[in-house]
Amino acid sequence: MSIIADDNDFKNTTIREKKNPVTKPEILEPDKNFENTIRPKTFDTYIGQSALKDTLKITIEAAKKRELPLDHLLFYGPPGLGKTTLAGVIAQEMGVDIKITSAPALERPRDIIGILMSLQGGEILFIDEIHRLNKVAEEILYPAMEDFYLDMTTGKSQTVKTLRVPLPKFTLIGATTKAGELSGPLRDRFGIIHRLEFYTHDELSQVIKRTAEILNIEIDSDGAYAIAKRSRGTPRIANRLIKRVSDYALVKYNGKINSKIANESLDTLQIDNFGLDTTDRNLLKLIIEKYDGGPVGIETIAAALGEDVRTLEDVCEPFLLQAGLLQRTPRGRKVSPAGYRHLGLNIQAEMSQQSLF
Ligand code: ADE
Repeated sequence: MSIIADDNDFKNTTIREKKNPVTKPEILEPDKNFENTIRPKTFDTYIGQSALKDTLKITIEAAKKRELPLDHLLFYGPPGLGKTTLAGVIAQEMGVDIKITSAPALERPRDIIGILMSLQGGEILFIDEIHRLNKVAEEILYPAMEDFYLDMTTGKSQTVKTLRVPLPKFTLIGATTKAGELSGPLRDRFGIIHRLEFYTHDELSQVIKRTAEILNIEIDSDGAYAIAKRSRGTPRIANRLIKRVSDYALVKYNGKINSKIANESLDTLQIDNFGLDTTDRNLLKLIIEKYDGGPVGIETIAAALGEDVRTLEDVCEPFLLQAGLLQRTPRGRKVSPAGYRHLGLNIQAEMSQQSLF
């Protein structure tokens, strides 16, 4: 495929980098913000995803022995499970720089061309939400990923010139919450495709203890476990909750977190013992009370709750589905018997109640 480029595509590379900041590891160093402060940097400090870590360690060692860049990698799974963190760990373990961007920032051809041309040999390019890449950007990526070149056409009609621009060998790490929305040709160009799994309560307890140590928060094992149980299998949520619980412990008690204080604080935040918040519970209640438990389309649910479809699909649903509280059917979403039980409702009683009206 040829890409029509004008001279500005090249001139603007530096400016584009400033506008759509690509991030080098040094920018990810502590104190930039909370998430970056607690982000693990090596496999030793990265908790969970053990099957994936084992595969990656082998792949990295082999790439180092061959003195070649890593194969392109695609990580998929619900948000907050550590896709970006893992990309940073891989860069650190490979001893290379990483440039971080996301598909919505690569709207124009010059955006993706600029980033590709700024890469140094062996570097990692991380593209978040890669399923949102537009067709043109995707087609620019194909030869870049496969054979490390850009095919560009400059000038207009009669004076058109084709230019094949070589690129340094790089590794693309793509991340997506929706692997199914990736086009076949793009998916086929990744050497390793891996799903990130929800974390167990034990793994989340370890994440919480590690974060507490970094932030100088005192917490005992039961306290960490109590937060872990309500963190929906997601480290990002666990790390968010520990801060809230720590605030509560400091204001109401002496700052030290145990299970009693953790549970009390999470109750106050209306996060139930499954980790569901009010939006999750409202979603289940709406389907039960207004649509006889479903099935009902996601657009209808989103409109009734005043939420957008993407938030429901990407943030609320993955855990509700995984926990077996919600079911996805060809005709829409349905609350499962476990979903009824979780809300303290009896499915038979609810159904007969509804049939009275
Ligand atoms: N913080 C967020 N994700 C983490 C992980 N997987 N391991 C350790 N700390 C984390």
